[in-house]
Amino acid sequence: MPATTEPLRIAILGSGKGSNCQSILDAIEAGQLNARVVCVISDVPGAGILERARQHGVPGLYLSGDPYKTKLDGEAEKRYLDALCRYGAQVIALAGFMRMIKGGLLNAFPGRILNIHPSLLPAFPGMESWKQALEYGAKVTGCTVHFVDAGMDTGPIILQRAVPIWENDTPETLHARIQAEEHVVYPEALRLLAEHRLRLEGRRVRILEAHHG
Ligand code: GRF
Repeated sequence: MPATTEPLRIAILGSGKGSNCQSILDAIEAGQLNARVVCVISDVPGAGILERARQHGVPGLYLSGDPYKTKLDGEAEKRYLDALCRYGAQVIALAGFMRMIKGGLLNAFPGRILNIHPSLLPAFPGMESWKQALEYGAKVTGCTVHFVDAGMDTGPIILQRAVPIWENDTPETLHARIQAEEHVVYPEALRLLAEHRLRLEGRRVRILEAHHG
């Protein structure tokens, strides 16, 4: 069916290999998501995510996160804001971006920054959540797409997918199965956003019925 509205202009920020970025680009190219990735930005020079962007004809920019190591603040925040404005981003999709987002960006994109996290939040926030779940002895984990707020993995939850933990799982096998689910759920969450079907009610994200006709 032809798109009846303007494509959602998404900027993707990531520090790593970019498999989630790939799933978003693929969903767009398959006609499943009415969006355009206007730029991909990484704080890691030579990150795989930048190469994936370029292969799809999307500008891939390295922008330093200095002077901080774990947050995007000060000069770095300005650099990112400039680029996001220049490319006309409406929404920011964090995809393995290893920095905390601070007030400047949150205020510039209110309710318009999403993140994918490899656990069923609020369980196992922070780093290497698949390892945390395995070591804790959980029987089920998964992934979460959520809006970003000022906390660490605390924003309102949009979609989640469960992944069972098997007896013989290693961190690697478990992470691979979680990632397979991430690649389904992130484009789906962005599709709901692009279709204006997400309504924030307090902490709860209500998913509205699709409009027909
Ligand atoms: C994913 O597991 C995501 O949940 C986490 O970082 C990882 C990024 O992977 N936030 P990739 O770079 O998208 O392959």
